[in-house]
Amino acid sequence: MEPVKVGLLGLGTVGCGTVDVLRRNAREIARRAGRGIEVVAAAARDPGRPRPCDTRGIRLTDDARVVVEDPEVEIVVELIGGDTLTRELVLRAIELGKHVVTANKALIALHGNEIFAQAQERGVMVAFEAAVAGGIPIIKAIREGLAGNTILWLAGIINGTGNFILTEMRDKGRSFEDVLAEAQRLGYAEADPTFDVEGIDAAHKLTILASIAFGIPLQFKKVYTEGISGITQEDVAYAGELGYRIKHLGIARRSNGAVELRVHPTLIPQRRLIANVDGVMNAVLVTGDAVGPTLYYGAGAGADPTASAVVADLVDVVRVMTTDPGNRVPHLAFQPDAITDLPIRSMDDVETAYYLRLRAIDRPGVLADVTRILGDLEVSIEAILQKEPEPGARDVPIVLLTHRTIERRMNTAIREIEALPTITAPVRRIRVESLQ
Ligand code: HSE
Repeated sequence: MEPVKVGLLGLGTVGCGTVDVLRRNAREIARRAGRGIEVVAAAARDPGRPRPCDTRGIRLTDDARVVVEDPEVEIVVELIGGDTLTRELVLRAIELGKHVVTANKALIALHGNEIFAQAQERGVMVAFEAAVAGGIPIIKAIREGLAGNTILWLAGIINGTGNFILTEMRDKGRSFEDVLAEAQRLGYAEADPTFDVEGIDAAHKLTILASIAFGIPLQFKKVYTEGISGITQEDVAYAGELGYRIKHLGIARRSNGAVELRVHPTLIPQRRLIANVDGVMNAVLVTGDAVGPTLYYGAGAGADPTASAVVADLVDVVRVMTTDPGNRVPHLAFQPDAITDLPIRSMDDVETAYYLRLRAIDRPGVLADVTRILGDLEVSIEAILQKEPEPGARDVPIVLLTHRTIERRMNTAIREIEALPTITAPVRRIRVESLQ
């Protein structure tokens, strides 16, 4: 049988990784797919530039539209990134009746509802395993492996760059900027690295995970998003003293008829497996009512790991290209007419525990004022740590851990604490999750 012909949009880190993996594992891939898979055309910004992958036999162009329109191309693999041109290219590929594989989380999170509706109508597949957690087959695990469960909640370290930065800050005391520059050099970071450090990339991925876990539409705009750029060495060290690690988590939880969608730095007890996921590695903890907690771990970024997911999608597409579209696994795990628009809980109504770091003048009664504010709002304190003043400083750091409370109440408490004349700096708040 003739190999299936693929057109690649983008020959950067992941594009070259995909070419490499397809060549290196050609025989195994054909044994699995039932046919060979061959890249015949590729679009790259500068086609003449030397690349780390072997592009012999691939027609190169600088115009992605040429690849999409190429009559020989049966599957379009989109690895360009961004959500404007790619939306146009993917919708055109669908219109032409071509299947699509993409690693583009922004595209799926922002335009997935439209893209899947069109793909459904045209009877083509749009596969996106590589969009979330790089090489970890988390989409397939939730969509297919856990299909017997009601998913209760999931929490994941889903941005490799952010995890790499937090790990290096903790282990080596390196500066934020220095580690970020290294992540960029290694090809982990987004084209715009604020997407990594401000949580946008994780929010794109969480949008996708929540949709396939709960059968809800993709709704990126409703994700509460906070990045890691405000995390200091001090916080990392104090968290350690209290028996916690700071991780940047995406959390989706269903309870009482609503869904929480939130991305923020989080203190996790250091004995949890997920608290020990370091460097560029990702991990997603998914809890189903039948299976209980399950944990998926692997490389969240990089050429070969992401290519692993892209190629797995290609194999999936090739296996079912000739089947009746009505009998394929639905794009978003649930049948399109069974997607339910559950309300997304406002962050004000989310319940969690908190780490608070204050700076206060060291004089009698200061702590009493702080604990009175928390007590009046029925926020219960779990631990308090007063640190030594730094040489020459007139104020001291105080660290508090609270029990679970509603975010709205904590906002009021923080406002009142900051208004005390003895408090000398804004309160640093980091949410705490036990993940049990
Ligand atoms: N910038 C992303 C990360 C790449 O660091 O996780 C993978 O999506």
